[in-house]
Amino acid sequence: MTSTRHIPVLSEEVLKFLACRGDGIYIDATLGGGGHARMILEATSPGGTLIGIDRDLNALETARESLADYRERAKLIHGNFRDLKEICQKLGVTEVRGILMDLGMSSDQLEKTHRGFSFNFPDDPIDMRMDESTEFTAADALNGLSERDLRDIFWRYGEERWAAAIAREIVTTRRRYPFRRVGDLVGAVKRAIPAKARHGRRHMATRVFQALRIYVNGELEALEQGLESGLSLLAKGGRMVVISFHSLEDRMVKQAFNAAKREPELFGGKRFSVLTRRPIRPSEGEIQANPRARSAKLRAIERNLT
Ligand SMILES: C[S@@+](CC[C@H](N)C(=O)[O-])C[C@H]1O[C@@H](n2cnc3c(N)ncnc32)[C@H](O)[C@@H]1O
Repeated sequence: MTSTRHIPVLSEEVLKFLACRGDGIYIDATLGGGGHARMILEATSPGGTLIGIDRDLNALETARESLADYRERAKLIHGNFRDLKEICQKLGVTEVRGILMDLGMSSDQLEKTHRGFSFNFPDDPIDMRMDESTEFTAADALNGLSERDLRDIFWRYGEERWAAAIAREIVTTRRRYPFRRVGDLVGAVKRAIPAKARHGRRHMATRVFQALRIYVNGELEALEQGLESGLSLLAKGGRMVVISFHSLEDRMVKQAFNAAKREPELFGGKRFSVLTRRPIRPSEGEIQANPRARSAKLRAIERNLT
């Protein structure tokens, strides 16, 4: 998998808020296929350096190919942005001018990796690990967690209305056979929910898939850590831009930015200004051209000069 199908979201806005200069160090903490990274590299020519991070080795390989022309100025790293501080420490980097996080999944992960992220491929294994070097898969969760834990995951991370019924159906089903394929899970969701709930605007399994993915990949814990580390790495005048795709993530970003602004003692007296009072949303035109952009929300923050 070396070419990307992923269209970068809110790209003009990302560049505007990062306010890139032709020098300094920038981090793309969610490299994906390298779409935003390429734009940052172009905007920071000739002297800017980009540190690109992704926890998915396939994404890294794709980005390595698509950013080959910028090899001299791009350091691409397999890692989790949860460990941003340690990653920077290893590179000898103490301050950066800009950080981008474009959360969630890339179109490549959904459509090309066949690791069970999409309910559209019933024969795929239910794996859902973004980083295949980790151990715990979505199938392990479905076959091993208690009914109560499953219900809590669907409710908390998916805001799934039928969480309890779906968890019950999963536990009943797995007494007969273990969950292995995407189709097994879609079937259980279908059996658990009322017939009238099966044909909404969104696929009936959307929320359950989202919830399991967030749980298996520890996405909210990583975001919490990544935001904190990112804010602590910003140089004076440096900026952090985060694009999120669901309300749990957006709430965390909003709260982390507001806390940094209100409580300078959190970051050793450093002061911050939030640049987006409300989140920036994609235009209708962008959503039409790229439906994946529909739920995107961008927030940005700047470390003050003084
Ligand atoms: C929406 S895509 C990024 C697309 C990219 N901005 C582009 O324009 O091509 C999100 C990427 O972030 C990666 N990712 C998600 N959580 C991560 C984490 N905690 N650490 C590192 N990478 C992560 C995913 O593997 C995925 O490749």
